[in-house]
Amino acid sequence: MSFLPSFSAPTPTPVSSGSAAFAAPAAPPTQAELLDFARRAAADPQLIASLPLDPQGRTWVRLDGPGGSEAWLIGWPPGSGTGWHDHADSIGAFVTAAGELTEHALAARIPTDGWKTLELTDGVDRSRRLPAGQGRSFGRHHVHEVLNESAERHAISVHAYYPPLPRIRRYSRTGRILRLEQVEHPEDWQ
Ligand SMILES: [Fe+2]
Repeated sequence: MSFLPSFSAPTPTPVSSGSAAFAAPAAPPTQAELLDFARRAAADPQLIASLPLDPQGRTWVRLDGPGGSEAWLIGWPPGSGTGWHDHADSIGAFVTAAGELTEHALAARIPTDGWKTLELTDGVDRSRRLPAGQGRSFGRHHVHEVLNESAERHAISVHAYYPPLPRIRRYSRTGRILRLEQVEHPEDWQ
């Protein structure tokens, strides 16, 4: 049980202009704010055109996300994908800017630690197609894979995560069996 301490009404205090000493800390961005950022960035043709594209593999450009979030512009050549992974304790959002992406996701809360293989129950698989302008946000421990299933068209998308990704867990999937393969930390991505 917990209770909130009562506060007396705040008294206006004169603060000299230009002082940041009393500024309240910024609230962490919400899923909706990350999605809104990704949507607006994906609708910026100059930004999207600035991403170099490589037919052999994905390409990345780091962006400044809102509220200290980690954001990326990502290019997906035909047939490329992420493999199954989660984003640990980060929330996130992504929006397709060009082409079309497919997301396969699990509609189940997966225990984060202490297991190596899990047998998924029936009915937890969800798939969605995300053409240009479409996206989604997700909460902590969201498990998914993202693919460009097109045979000939590049896809481009904008992603944002908060807190900035401390780690990613990578999984392999064989039918209903999900197996933890690797935990990647930021130093692995340098
Ligand atoms: Fe992801």
